[in-house]
Amino acid sequence: MAVLLSRALTSKKRTSAESHGVRLVWPGRHWRMGEEGACADGSPARAASNLFDVTGDGAHRILHGDVFDLAHALEREGLRGAVDLVYVDPPFASERDYVAESRLDGAADGRVVRTPAYGDTWSTRSGGLGAYLEMLAPRLEALTDLLAPKGTIWVHLDWRAAYLVRSILDEILGRDAFLNEIVWRRAPNLGRQATSGQFGRTLDTLVVYGKPGAKLTPPTRLEPIDESAIRRDAEGRPFTSAPRGDYTDASIAKLDAEGRVHRTPSGRVYIKYFLVKDDAGVWCRERRIDALWTDVPPLRHAAASERTGYPTQKPRALLERIIGCATSPGGLVVDAFAGSGTTAVAAHALGRRAVLADRSPVAVATARARLLRDGAGVRIERAAGAVVAPESVLRVETSARVGKAGLCVTLVEPSEPMAWAVGTMQNSVFTSIWHAERALGTKAAAAPREAVVDAIVANTVVRVWGDNGSVTTKFVMETHP
Ligand SMILES: C[S@@+](CC[C@H](N)C(=O)[O-])C[C@H]1O[C@@H](n2cnc3c(N)ncnc32)[C@H](O)[C@@H]1O
Repeated sequence: MAVLLSRALTSKKRTSAESHGVRLVWPGRHWRMGEEGACADGSPARAASNLFDVTGDGAHRILHGDVFDLAHALEREGLRGAVDLVYVDPPFASERDYVAESRLDGAADGRVVRTPAYGDTWSTRSGGLGAYLEMLAPRLEALTDLLAPKGTIWVHLDWRAAYLVRSILDEILGRDAFLNEIVWRRAPNLGRQATSGQFGRTLDTLVVYGKPGAKLTPPTRLEPIDESAIRRDAEGRPFTSAPRGDYTDASIAKLDAEGRVHRTPSGRVYIKYFLVKDDAGVWCRERRIDALWTDVPPLRHAAASERTGYPTQKPRALLERIIGCATSPGGLVVDAFAGSGTTAVAAHALGRRAVLADRSPVAVATARARLLRDGAGVRIERAAGAVVAPESVLRVETSARVGKAGLCVTLVEPSEPMAWAVGTMQNSVFTSIWHAERALGTKAAAAPREAVVDAIVANTVVRVWGDNGSVTTKFVMETHP
């Protein structure tokens, strides 16, 4: 498979890459080639998606469907130009099919339910890597169209496709829109990687582009300072110092006014960095983080309760860093290759709103359960043509609670669903009034099988979410002994 860089002369749609004279060409490229059958933006027309499940305030949204379905839904709702951050972690062109593992008895050895989650094989399809780029490029373009004037798009990849996607984003947004190529060390250099006869491929790449007004606010980290390097100013405040580097005279004057310049007897200028204590009481210098991220541990080092068993799940700390430096509280975050919903749980924790999409029913079920476990409200829509898993057998019993108000609904079968809920059904939309999800990690526990609800009305429904992403719904009738 040959991917070529060529002069862009044939496209009918003038692209920002044309002004730079370079763009990627791959066998079977139709994207932006003015082919018949595609909309002006290169994506096929989509039908509206239907709301079908609501829990709580529905602050976060999951669309069961393709990236295009989400892009078109937001556009229809007038949200084009309103998204502060698009983060996507698409398939990496890894030539693998991925399986989700639900550990019914927690992280320890025990019963595991394995379900195919999504495919990332391209060599067997006609077009190979070209087919991958043909899938990804128009979807990235549709997502960039949603960005606010200060918005950024982050594309999470690795060595296989990051270099190609930079070229695609150059073409979509222009080379000047490039902000960063962040390297995240996702694994230690151990085992097969360390003995592979090359440097270990232990890194992922985050390619970041922004609209013209985009500004990131990188966080700081605390770096312990050796006692011998600590000095004190006239007021006894501890500091460490470093040469002035590339600070201009004007900047030095400003720092001088803040008491942050230290001059040696010989007149050399150093910048003072006042120190703060970390949690262990050690004096540290605050350092702004650069584009090399070695301090976000891999998922396997995260708490067992964070690990959903969804393949290629990313650590929540990584998404918290991205969302924290690219958005403000209340901001709108989109992840259209959502997987287990890491972006949404991080957005929820930081007080941002998330809109997710994923084609895989397993991903949608996993992300929904995860958000509800974290106490977030979620609204689920389903795109026309979304692939749904076959329904499961569902058996419930109801009984009056002797001497107490309300009714008891018992889930008889399936006995260990990923999640289930009791609610009402109106115009094909299910609204939860009670819900339960399996607990993960060391405190793994099946969802409770008994729900107590005020009363069962004519449109009361039980809905069960399975590990294979199935959604099974049944009306329940009140039964009296
Ligand atoms: C690498 S995983 C994302 C993992 C996620 N970041 C997490 O932390 O769990 C990629 C996801 O993209 C989804 N996907 C692949 N092609 C898609 C498409 N065209 N539209 C929507 N989702 C897609 C897959 O189902 C899969 O869940």
